[in-house]
Amino acid sequence: MRNIAIFASGTGTNAERIISYFQAGNTARVRLILCNKSTAGVVERAKKYGIECQIFSPAELKETSLVLDWLEEYEIDYIVLAGFLLLLPSVIIDRYGDRIVNIHPSLLPKFGGKGMYGERVHAAVIEAGESRSGITIHHVNGQLDEGAVIFQAEVPVLPGDTPETLAARIHELEYTHYPRIIEQEILKIQ
Ligand code: GRF
Repeated sequence: MRNIAIFASGTGTNAERIISYFQAGNTARVRLILCNKSTAGVVERAKKYGIECQIFSPAELKETSLVLDWLEEYEIDYIVLAGFLLLLPSVIIDRYGDRIVNIHPSLLPKFGGKGMYGERVHAAVIEAGESRSGITIHHVNGQLDEGAVIFQAEVPVLPGDTPETLAARIHELEYTHYPRIIEQEILKIQ
């Protein structure tokens, strides 16, 4: 049984889907939620499932070994980013290598990088007149949204779409694929 840590900054709907997916199986379990905001929705969701949650500041993440120490203490094998808005420091990336995964709500390399998060991504896709958008699940390499792509899936951008309606369609795609792709990647760990 592998131990997963999820880093999240926001609502945590993906984190919740991942927690319940792994509670139903025996490949891995979500052992820890790591969050940089004590008021984030993900903190309440973690509580509901009895998952431990640790809160840290951006400075603690960047300048201290606090988070790395938790990863060791909780014997974390695999790191999942699910709406995490800070960059992971290189000590964590070096330690975990390709055992870190992120999801981005566009077809990278399009609509990724600085400032491209949340509904801003969907607003930019609509503004650019794209006919397709989707999700990208990728490894994490220290550059925002640039790690090797593991999986992509598409949805249409429909006439009359708003950032909210497109976000809802993309969230459904995330819930369908992210937990199973994480499991597939965890099964590759030696
Ligand atoms: C998702 O759309 C994900 O692709 C992006 O951040 C969003 C997180 O949403 N990285 P939620 O907090 O899981 O609802």
